[in-house]
Amino acid sequence: MDNTPDNIIEIRNVTKQFGSTKVLHDLSLDVKRGERLVMLGGSGAGKSTLLNLMAAETRPTSGTIKIDGTDICAMSDGQMDDYRKTMGVLFQSGALFNSLTLAENIALPLQEHTDLDQSTIDTIVTMKLNLVGLLAHADKYPSEISGGMKKRAGLGRALALDPKVIFYDEPSAGLDPVSVTEIDKLMVDLNETTGVTTVVITHEMTSAFRIATRLVLLDQGQFVADGSPDEMKQSDNPLVHQFVHGLLAGPLTDRKDTTAYHDALLKPGR
Ligand SMILES: Nc1ncnc2c1ncn2[C@@H]1O[C@H](COP(=O)(O)OP(=O)(O)OP(=O)(O)O)[C@@H](O)[C@H]1O
Ligand SMILES: [Mg+2]
Repeated sequence: MDNTPDNIIEIRNVTKQFGSTKVLHDLSLDVKRGERLVMLGGSGAGKSTLLNLMAAETRPTSGTIKIDGTDICAMSDGQMDDYRKTMGVLFQSGALFNSLTLAENIALPLQEHTDLDQSTIDTIVTMKLNLVGLLAHADKYPSEISGGMKKRAGLGRALALDPKVIFYDEPSAGLDPVSVTEIDKLMVDLNETTGVTTVVITHEMTSAFRIATRLVLLDQGQFVADGSPDEMKQSDNPLVHQFVHGLLAGPLTDRKDTTAYHDALLKPGR
């Protein structure tokens, strides 16, 4: 097992290329056990690509990714499939099966990936529905519930197999402000009560600071900042400052001025 048990995920010099396009450039990152890491970055920065790598959905072009001490890059496809079951992923859409009720959606991974009998599965489903506040809606179909409820149901399903890490890709996209706050609270509560390592991609700065114990900023396939919420808020790195405060002017909107951009990237500290 792992010699550095504090890190549940270790990414070293990872590059990901689609055809001739390099999306991630020589990235390294440690995700600490039990933390709530928020990944920030503009559209196309490579956030979902990195999340897919961490969730063992795909392999990097080069570099290594260790999860709990196991190098996923050295695994066979079958081992990757098994490994994926220990990760919970909440996709942007919630990705529920429309022909199944919420309870059936949550039961599915248990039926597919465990030998548990139906009554045990029913008990676990009840517990997970309760955890995400949907017990009263167990027999509804996805088309009968709101977007926020779909997100919660997707989370219930992601939790079905008691994952070591939960990945959330823009969990609050398209939700009203109250549902956003509810989802944020749920993510924090789940982390605090179960200790599950939590990795979240979000564009919502209010959410990011409500959720995170640590934030990283990805830009053009590279990390340009890594720090606590306070460090990020007070950062004088122009990239971080513009992103965190949502400013119209700054290096992110000034890509044509490559000199300014490279200066910003190379600026020491945050
Ligand atoms: N399977 C793929 N094949 C080819 N290109 C891809 C693939 N997946 C992602 N890309 C490209 O990689 C880049 C990064 O995409 P990614 O989805 O990781 O961005 P993102 O940071 O999640 O953006 P957003 O905030 O819009 O979701 C984009 O230019 C995208 O077109
Ligand atoms: Mg994305």
